[in-house]
Amino acid sequence: MKRPIHGGNLTWAANQAGCPVTSIIDFSASINPLGPPNSAITAFQQGVAAITHYPDPHYLQLRLALGQLHNISPDWILPGNGAAELLTWAGRELANLQLTYLIVPCFLDYWRALQGFGAKVKSYPFSWEKKTCSLNLDPVDPQSSGVIINNPHNPTGKLFHRDILLPLLEKFALVVVDEAFMDFLPPDEQQSLIPMVGDYPNLVIVRSLTKFYSIPGLRLGYAIAHPHRLQQWQLWRDPWSVNSLAAAVGEAVINDHEFQKQTRSWLVASKKGLLRGLSNLKGLQPFPSAANFLLVKTQVPSSQLEQKLLKKHRILIRNCLNFPELGDSYFRIAVRTDAENQGLIKALAEVQSS
Ligand SMILES: Cc1ncc(COP(=O)(O)O)c(C=O)c1O
Repeated sequence: MKRPIHGGNLTWAANQAGCPVTSIIDFSASINPLGPPNSAITAFQQGVAAITHYPDPHYLQLRLALGQLHNISPDWILPGNGAAELLTWAGRELANLQLTYLIVPCFLDYWRALQGFGAKVKSYPFSWEKKTCSLNLDPVDPQSSGVIINNPHNPTGKLFHRDILLPLLEKFALVVVDEAFMDFLPPDEQQSLIPMVGDYPNLVIVRSLTKFYSIPGLRLGYAIAHPHRLQQWQLWRDPWSVNSLAAAVGEAVINDHEFQKQTRSWLVASKKGLLRGLSNLKGLQPFPSAANFLLVKTQVPSSQLEQKLLKKHRILIRNCLNFPELGDSYFRIAVRTDAENQGLIKALAEVQSS
C-alpha cells in the first residue's frame, strides 16, 4: 500500500500498525476532536427524509445562511464538496494565467489542482521561522499572474496579518486565499479577507467546514468571490456537487454558537498544554501556531518516529517528507483532547529513546 499524500489516511495507518482502523488515534489530520456537534447529527438525521430528492442546485437556503453569517449577498457564495472541490476550480482559473505563485511549504492539494489543468507554477519560499513574516512577492507579469495563499498557514500554523496580504490584491490578476482553518481563531483575532471581497473582483476566498465541525467524510466548503466568477465555476462542475445532507448540516452548524465557543476555548487551553509538553521533550522544537495543529522540528527523523508511534502506540502523526522545504526533520500534529495529547507526549518520549 502506497504512503499517503495527505494526513488522515487511516486505512494506510491501520495496515502499517496491523490493527483495525478504529484503533488508530489520528493526529495527522487536523480535525476538531469535540465534534461533530449535536446540531450536525440532528440535521443529518432530519435530512435523511430528503435524500429521495435531488438537492436544490442553487443551494439557496445554505447560501442565504452563509450570506447572513458573513454579511454578504448569497450571489457571492458558492458551496462546494469540501474546500478541495473549490480549489479544483480555482486551479482551472489560475491555469489560464501565465504563471501561478505558490507560497511554500504549502498544502499539497494546490499542486494537484494546478497541475491537473497544466498551470505553470513557481514556488515562493517564505521565511516562516521568523516571528513576523513578510511577503515581498512581486510577479514578473502582474497582468497574467496568480497566487494561492493559505491563512492560517498549513503546515506552519503562521497567521498572516491582513496588511501583509492586501498588497497582493494590487499586484496579481487573481489571488486565492484558502481560509480553511480561520474559524479556529476567536472572531476578534481572525484576519479574513472576506470583508474586502466586494472591492476586489480578483479575490477568491475558500473556506472549509470539515475541520472545525469534524465532518471531513461528509464534505462541505464554500467559495466567496465575484458572482461572475462563481457562475462560471458552476457551469464547469456538475449540478449537484454538494449532497443534501451536507447542505442541511452546513446550515445548522454555522449557527451553533455554543459549539463554536466551546471549540475556541478548548483549543486555547489544549494547544498551550501540548506546546508545553512537547517543549519539555529533548530533541523536539514545536512552533507556535494560530491553528489547531502544531509543526514540530525533530532531531530523530520524523519517518522513524511515525513508524514507531504507529506500530507501538497506534498513533498516527503527519511526517513532512512530501513538503520538500521541510523533509524528515519535521512533523505536524493536530491538537486533540487533553488525554490524547498527554498520551502522545508520553509515547513520543518513549519512542525517541528506543
Ligand atoms: C489548507 C487546506 N485547505 C483545504 C483543505 C481541504 O479541506 P476540505 O476537507 O474542506 O476539502 C485542507 C485539508 O486538509 C487544508 O489543509
